[in-house]
Amino acid sequence: MIDPPTKNIVWHSPTITRDCRQQLNQHQAAILWFTGLPSSGKSTLAHALEAELYRRGCHTYVLDGDNIRHGLNADLGFSWQDRRENIRRIGEVSKLLMDSGCIVLSAFISPSIAERQKVRDLFEPIDFFEIYCQASVKTCEKRDPKGLYQKARLGQIQHFTGVSSVYEAPLNPEIILNTEQLSITDCVDLIIKQLIFCKIIK
Ligand code: ADX
Repeated sequence: MIDPPTKNIVWHSPTITRDCRQQLNQHQAAILWFTGLPSSGKSTLAHALEAELYRRGCHTYVLDGDNIRHGLNADLGFSWQDRRENIRRIGEVSKLLMDSGCIVLSAFISPSIAERQKVRDLFEPIDFFEIYCQASVKTCEKRDPKGLYQKARLGQIQHFTGVSSVYEAPLNPEIILNTEQLSITDCVDLIIKQLIFCKIIK
């Protein structure tokens, strides 16, 4: 019989802690969790924000749905069950990266309120920022840079979020970005202001 995973496994406390790394980096670590429909601007904004944080000397890393699904999560599809596992793994990876002292920018549709809540529960409230990239299906479908909405309408993609699979918008996110009205620069400015206000960066 195989032992349950927690049996005979003892947590090893690190010598160099998150606090040490934050002191070295001169900023706090945090999770910026971008959620929204496909083509709502999550990845674009995460990368634009990362460029600005990099310019300010911050240590960052972007975790992006499409990229992670090329490697770590290449075994997962888009059923509700697979998306749950996708988000669970990303939550854990985000936690490791945050412990390394990074500001982690995680950009995933993450359509389920319950699964996003589970990720949130992995962190202290001050460390976690849910950022809702708000745009209607109509607008996202007009943008459709990868042609995926069109494929979904033609029945060539199953369970496509916004067309044949549900997206549950956040009820109480830390930041809402209306990407139909705000420019990328406006959105980046807004998040930077919030990070300064919350003393994540100076
Ligand atoms: S999530 O729902 O599990 O959070 P994730 O963010 O990892 O999704 O991946 C979304 C990306 O996968 C989209 O940007 C899109 O390019 C691609 N994709 C392929 N099939 C689908 C689908 N059925 N629904 C949504 N996105 C899909």
